[in-house]
Amino acid sequence: MRNLIENTDLSVEEIDELLEKADDIIANPEKYRDACRYKKLATLFFEPSTRTRLSFEAAMLELGGSVLGFSEAASSSAAKGESVSDTVKTVSCYADVIAMRHPKEGAPLVASLKADVPVINAGDGGHNHPTQTLTDLLTIHREKNRLNNMTVGFCGDLKFGRTVHSLITALSRYEGIKIALVSPLELKLPSYIKKEILKRNGIEYIQTTHLENVMPQLDVLYMTRVQRERFFNEDDYVRLKDSYILTPEKLQTAKADLTIMHPLPRVNEISVEVDSDPRACYFRQALNGKYVRMALILKLLGIEV
Ligand code: NCD
Repeated sequence: MRNLIENTDLSVEEIDELLEKADDIIANPEKYRDACRYKKLATLFFEPSTRTRLSFEAAMLELGGSVLGFSEAASSSAAKGESVSDTVKTVSCYADVIAMRHPKEGAPLVASLKADVPVINAGDGGHNHPTQTLTDLLTIHREKNRLNNMTVGFCGDLKFGRTVHSLITALSRYEGIKIALVSPLELKLPSYIKKEILKRNGIEYIQTTHLENVMPQLDVLYMTRVQRERFFNEDDYVRLKDSYILTPEKLQTAKADLTIMHPLPRVNEISVEVDSDPRACYFRQALNGKYVRMALILKLLGIEV
């Protein structure tokens, strides 16, 4: 039985196949309408979510399946003290596949060891977010027609941003990738990722506190929100939250074919005036999330169309 706990659970070839499948679903949605008839997806969300949970649910519904689950820990038996292991053991009796988001790093991994059905990590604390990464890879591929030979800038909260950790890990498996890390000193990319992913794979990278230093070189700019819920004290959050605000002025030195991404939700870090710039693709990115999750559900359920 396959799970998706981190991106490296999938080979590069399997990721390519998923992206191709997502492209086919976009081109021929009617082919997939009944693919998951009588199958059920459980969404177990112990942390807030809009896009991830709803795109998972929309994905299963568009495949002709059904969904069940909860959207906050308070409405599940976790509030009574039930363990993650017991919860997933139980939900395995009711669903064919589980998508779980949890504030504790490693909770979906624990769940996958106990569950009798495939478990998908829908975000675990400040660690990983593999289905956002599939969404991001599909988006980069659709916008740029390649996943290699490009400079990708990550800007914002690189310390707690799990989408950043997962995407850097995934990109490090492609040729010719250069990375620019833009963050306040307090929110730098964790050193274990620099050491185990960037250095080990020989990925060229620079770190800076100033976005304008790297803007002209970027092919992709991945903006992120300062992750308020992971801070130990509110004063630090308030001090750092508006470190970067992307505006049309700041984009003046950017490439004409820059791809501007953001996993969303956005708080303040991209001014709404940027939304009408054709290079802004974060809402297309959110839509891509549904299609790539459809492809993933089919793969984990072993359904061929
Ligand atoms: C991200 C997450 O939950 O990590 N959101 C998402 O899933 N699209 C990013 C964030 O919350 O800032």
